[in-house]
Amino acid sequence: MTAPLPTSELASSVAGQSFAPVLGSGFRSYYSDALCTIYHADCIDVLPTLAPCDLLLTDPPYGVTYQSNHRVGQGSTPITNDGTRLSLALYRQVLPLVKANHLLWFTRWDAWPDVWAILGQYYPLRGLLVWDKGHNGMGDLNHWGLSYELIASAGGAKLQGARDGSVLRYKPKPSNDRHHPTEKPVGLLAYLMEKVNAKTVCDPFMGSGTTLVAAKQMGRKCVGIETNESYCEIAAKRLAQDVMTLGSQNDQGMP
Ligand SMILES: C[S@@+](CC[C@H](N)C(=O)[O-])C[C@H]1O[C@@H](n2cnc3c(N)ncnc32)[C@H](O)[C@@H]1O
Repeated sequence: MTAPLPTSELASSVAGQSFAPVLGSGFRSYYSDALCTIYHADCIDVLPTLAPCDLLLTDPPYGVTYQSNHRVGQGSTPITNDGTRLSLALYRQVLPLVKANHLLWFTRWDAWPDVWAILGQYYPLRGLLVWDKGHNGMGDLNHWGLSYELIASAGGAKLQGARDGSVLRYKPKPSNDRHHPTEKPVGLLAYLMEKVNAKTVCDPFMGSGTTLVAAKQMGRKCVGIETNESYCEIAAKRLAQDVMTLGSQNDQGMP
């Protein structure tokens, strides 16, 4: 566990970045800029110290051990806490610690009944969104290909603008060009923040920081938490780069 430090002692691990905890945590931040802060820590330790936010937008460990057959033996490692029972136990620990007006929580078909039950204990359930990836992912080769993921929506946010349908079509990043094996498209995360009008966002399972990259592009404040330091480093580097316009990303909605 990272020891809490007084704000005056906060220091950056990325040269030249100024430090200011965005949503009020007293933990030492790994990276911070005017909009985004990263904590290299277990979210169970950090979440109780954060101020309430508009949106918790997260892609947690799903409860399936993620290791592509293509990468077995090539140094790929399963994602921390990625095992069905471990993940559900983690969700049960995390949800009571969350202070957000709305939750958008990625899940998949074989985990969603449990996710639904767990989220429903704390937030009014609003619906399931479908992220249509447009092509098959991994899974049972004798059954329909898994070309989508689910996003559970729960809480009090009201949709901004048009009443869009719940199937969202965004191309995934090519697997050979990802910062994280389960990286989500920046454009999809930006769209979700925009639709629920979130000015402050938290991602307790940050991975390579895609939620923070989207928040920064949108001018929203965002806190990310990640146990794996190598992903914190990747996320910090992504955030330290000049902000690119959404239109230049290779993850636009499909026609
Ligand atoms: C599915 S990945 C998120 C990937 C992310 N959407 C991206 O685009 O890079 C979930 C991440 O949660 C991290 N994690 C697992 N348990 C955690 C915990 N208790 N606190 C913080 N991070 C955790 C894992 O190391 C993993 O990188």
